[in-house]
Amino acid sequence: MIIPKNKQEIAYMRATGHLLADVFAEFAPLVIEGVSTKSLDEQIEKMLVARGLISQSKGYMGYLYATCISINEEIVHGVPDAKRFLHQGDLVKIDICARRAGFCADMARCFVVGTMNDELRKFVEVAYQSLDAGIKNVVIGKRLGDVSAAIQRVVESAGCSVVREFAGHGIGAAMHEDPEVLNYGAAGTGSRIKEGMAIAIEPMITQRNCAVKILSDGWTAVACNGGLAAHVEDTVIATEHGPEVITRV
Ligand code: MF3
Ligand code: CO
Repeated sequence: MIIPKNKQEIAYMRATGHLLADVFAEFAPLVIEGVSTKSLDEQIEKMLVARGLISQSKGYMGYLYATCISINEEIVHGVPDAKRFLHQGDLVKIDICARRAGFCADMARCFVVGTMNDELRKFVEVAYQSLDAGIKNVVIGKRLGDVSAAIQRVVESAGCSVVREFAGHGIGAAMHEDPEVLNYGAAGTGSRIKEGMAIAIEPMITQRNCAVKILSDGWTAVACNGGLAAHVEDTVIATEHGPEVITRV
């Protein structure tokens, strides 16, 4: 069941989203060579707590950390590790879902450690462009398939592949609500987008089509062919004025 949000609920979600975006801005300079993913997670958790934000991954199905940090061929749900250090050129995806005053926001960004070459820059840009194309379709009266198809078109016309094993989702009082928001599909299909619909859009892409496997930690999803994966995510609400991205300030 898709739960539309009223103006008051949207105001709460917006506050959570803006605070979460603020946390991403604060920790971005810390994503540097030599830092461990566990240390990053701990520093980020302090920033969340300082803003009254409660991580929704910590405690979720036994997951122990405030963030998911996925590197290079890791797609999503990378587990912070005190022995895992960032290296020059690493493509790092950081994903955080936080709740405050009863309402959630979900956000992920790509970071590159040190200097990035043109191939890497282009790949990461495809992920962001696909996210933006999806967001543009969060318009009252359109359908979810319009969001999905827009994402898929950007990814595939750039010669990259959509990861089909995971999807975006509705969001509100809970981190995961209906509907599922696929990153591929046909325009003009799926549920109608209504005023107050809140969704987390999160394209996950690989350089080439490949299978996905879960590492022995039970969480980390990786591209089997060892190619790079990118993942970006924003929380978006359909309003009478068009799509409102609450995880950007
Ligand atoms: N933030 C992730 C999402 O976009 C969920 C992380 S929950 C975890 O749905 F437990 F897997 F970390
Ligand atoms: Co999400």
